[in-house]
Amino acid sequence: MRRHLVELAICALLAAWLLSGVRADEPVVRDEAVLARQATMKSAKAALAVLGEMSALRRHFDRAAARAARARLLEALSDLPDRFEQPYFDRHTRARPEIWGNWPAFLRSAEAARQAARGLRTNNLPALRRSLPAVMSACLACHSRYRTGQ
Ligand code: HEC
Repeated sequence: MRRHLVELAICALLAAWLLSGVRADEPVVRDEAVLARQATMKSAKAALAVLGEMSALRRHFDRAAARAARARLLEALSDLPDRFEQPYFDRHTRARPEIWGNWPAFLRSAEAARQAARGLRTNNLPALRRSLPAVMSACLACHSRYRTGQ
């Protein structure tokens, strides 16, 4: 009899535990730290887009605007290591766990992108065009290694 009661209690606990899980109608919970690192990446993309459009003649080349975009890009890439340092996850992250499996290697990838952005020349259009591809390939190199799905 007593064993029966214990089994019942265990079943009740198990049921409570299972029911406390994610319900289908629950709103999707995003992790703040994941959102922050994705926002940093979006900022890098926005800055790069300005430079890319100038380079492709879809936007008028403007030295001040190009310089501002370079500064924004550098800021995002400088923030990158801090944003990724902790292995936060949520259902929508595309970050691969390999980032934290070999953190120094990830840091090198981040540093390579920052160096490429430093090398961006914004004085004139030909200089911008010459220096932009290195930045783009540094973004892609990291994504192909550390981000799921392309
Ligand atoms: C050192 C690695 C690294 C570098 C360098 C890097 N990224 Fe990322 N990026 C990531 C990872 C990892 C993610 C996935 C983050 C997540 O989903 O949690 C990501 C996500 C993104 C996203 C999607 C953000 C979102 O809203 O989900 C964009 C856009 C992006 N990166 C743009 C760039 C651009 C532009 C550059 C180059 C200037 C760049 N990234 C350089 C690692 C990197």
